[in-house]
Amino acid sequence: MLQSSLEFLRCVRCGAKLELDVFLSEKEIVEGMLECKKCKLKFPIIHKIPILWDDFANYLSSRRILGGKLYNLVCSPKLKSFVKSSLSKKENDRSNLEEKWSKIYQNSKNSKFYFEVKKNLDALPSSKLVLEHGCSIGITTNHLADSNEMVFGLDRSFSALDIAKKHFKENLDYFVADSLCPVFGKLQFDLVLALNVLEIIEPRVLLKSISKQITKGHFVISDPYDFDRGPNSVKNPINESLLRINLTDLGFNVLSSTKKPSFIPWNLKLNPRATLNYKVDFVIAQKS
Ligand SMILES: C[S@@+](CC[C@H](N)C(=O)[O-])C[C@H]1O[C@@H](n2cnc3c(N)ncnc32)[C@H](O)[C@@H]1O
Ligand SMILES: [Zn+2]
Repeated sequence: MLQSSLEFLRCVRCGAKLELDVFLSEKEIVEGMLECKKCKLKFPIIHKIPILWDDFANYLSSRRILGGKLYNLVCSPKLKSFVKSSLSKKENDRSNLEEKWSKIYQNSKNSKFYFEVKKNLDALPSSKLVLEHGCSIGITTNHLADSNEMVFGLDRSFSALDIAKKHFKENLDYFVADSLCPVFGKLQFDLVLALNVLEIIEPRVLLKSISKQITKGHFVISDPYDFDRGPNSVKNPINESLLRINLTDLGFNVLSSTKKPSFIPWNLKLNPRATLNYKVDFVIAQKS
């Protein structure tokens, strides 16, 4: 975590400012603890990544394997005992699933989709503050840092951000967090991205929450509308026309170049013999 990121972060439970205790620091903070000044909730920083989850034990309860890895990874005694004491609950484990998908994204970063998205992003005016929700291994986040002032990526997968963090830039930082939690309080962004997350994060709730993060600026969204996910499906799926209607209702103008739904190939290499071939819709909306 960059020291400079502290001023932007807020407690996800009560919205107060956070205090930083650094245990290990190199070019950036490698290990440390963020603590809410008001409600005293603690958020560990492990392997340069702050985990801004409302309840760290809860985060680890569905990631026991990751919990074991984090326990082995940390050096500072304070952080070791914090991870250990959070390792008591147990649910279905997401660690291997999140690691597997991080590798799939690594093997798929040359998909035409990312090329098309980067081309569209390069045509936008340079922004002061950028946020990407569900940024995974940071393919677009990292690209955005080359032409914008300060860029943040959020994802609930520690494994994905661990890969993203391999590209150090002084204006680029990542946080493990739930996109629906107010990690940045009421901070306003000039550019927000949500690429291919609408079938995983309740779409109308996410759109509303992101709308509050933009008073003046751009919102870039893509999605394959692959909502059929069994018990994990979102409650209120949307489609290409509902997405545009929702954005308009929230006060956005959909740019004329993206008014018509598009079908950009997004190929995810699952293994050497199988590829998932999506055709994704792409929208740029603006509040001015
Ligand atoms: C389908 S992937 C898309 C990754 C990336 N945006 C892209 O298009 O290459 C969805 C990503 O969203 C993350 N994610 C899912 N639910 C989330 C939540 N509630 N908060 C933050 N990230 C979430 C997942 O960990 C995953 O990395
Ligand atoms: Zn608090």
